[in-house]
Amino acid sequence: MQAVVLVGGQGSRLRPITYDVPKPMVPLRNRPFISYMVDFLRSGGVDRAVLSMGYLPDPIQEYFEKQKMDGFELDYVVEDRPLGTAGGLKNAQSALDGGPVVVTNGDVLTGMRLESLIEAHRESGALATIALTSVEDPTAYGLVEVDHNMKVHRFVEKPAYDEISTSLINAGIYVLEPEVLEMIPAGKEVSIEREIFPRLQQSGRLYAYVSSSYWKDIGTPRSYLTASQDVLSGAIAGGEDFDYRESHPSIEVGKSVKILPPFSIERDCVLENGCTVGGRTALGRGCRIGEEAVVEGSILFDGVRVEPGAIIRGSIVGPNVRIGHRAIVRGLAVLGAECVIGEGNVLDQGIRVNPRVNLPPRSLRF
Ligand code: GDD
Ligand code: MG
Repeated sequence: MQAVVLVGGQGSRLRPITYDVPKPMVPLRNRPFISYMVDFLRSGGVDRAVLSMGYLPDPIQEYFEKQKMDGFELDYVVEDRPLGTAGGLKNAQSALDGGPVVVTNGDVLTGMRLESLIEAHRESGALATIALTSVEDPTAYGLVEVDHNMKVHRFVEKPAYDEISTSLINAGIYVLEPEVLEMIPAGKEVSIEREIFPRLQQSGRLYAYVSSSYWKDIGTPRSYLTASQDVLSGAIAGGEDFDYRESHPSIEVGKSVKILPPFSIERDCVLENGCTVGGRTALGRGCRIGEEAVVEGSILFDGVRVEPGAIIRGSIVGPNVRIGHRAIVRGLAVLGAECVIGEGNVLDQGIRVNPRVNLPPRSLRF
């Protein structure tokens, strides 16, 4: 089986992180997100995939060129302007073999069994089968209404509150027959959700497959941080309580340091005397956590420096950020690459600091 993974979006809801790091490369347990997608495809019997790229393609391609793929084949197509979800798929057509294709959004993390979706697709004789999951609030997704035979009756992308008739939504994973690619005009911006699925629904050949497995779109700071914490506590590996306690042998640990599971600590990190790190935290390569500092429930990208006495809780800290003495970063704050947070600042309530901003000491409080 072949696949196309759509990874060309700008990741605008994950800014300021995605100004520097494309969404497929943000780390989960210190591995780029996209590697989980590749594992998902491989374990479902896919042996080649085309990455449909646009925004910041180079880091993605460079990452895979360094990986051992053991027989899994990856191709890349890059669009010079955004073609949308169907346009990005059409753009990958020349790299496909003319048979059915699995298509996925590049930002979903799931424990779903891909084989079951493929099987359901084969049995129904549909032109396209969409995997569905249920969420509390469908307004940020594609709402999908089905009948008792799993035939799709309605597909509404980003429904308004008064359009919500079900909690089932498009999980961003499809199996498509080659005819569907023929419905997409080439070289134009086309949305599969707004233009192609509604047309397939009208022809009566759009089906769905409902999954109750773990599923999350990592496209917002809240869902990305939750996904990271879920991966660290083993939630996607089947639900059993498994606490990752991963630390690279190269890390330096001072006196009276508390490391609380689960955690993932990459190579060359330094944990100075009396600091506390963990509780579903991931530290990227070469982070330094100062004396008596606390880092809990957070994601720190590579090269972050946390000065003594600073506190970071439930937040996302981009690459090479510096957090000053006794500063407090909490409440889902998101700090862009290389910013410097001066001593004694308090960042809270989902504040987002743009890359390379230099915040003078004691300039913000909440
Ligand atoms: N190649 C290419 N070109 N890829 C794109 C483009 C583009 O112009 N625009 C978006 N993508 C990729 C994104 O990188 C992402 O992996 C995927 O397509 C979906 O785009 P998002 O921007 O993340 O969409 P969404 O999260 O608002 O909604 C989509 O996903 C939901 C599930 O997570 C829709 O498919 C919804 O129907 C669905 O419920
Ligand atoms: Mg998304």
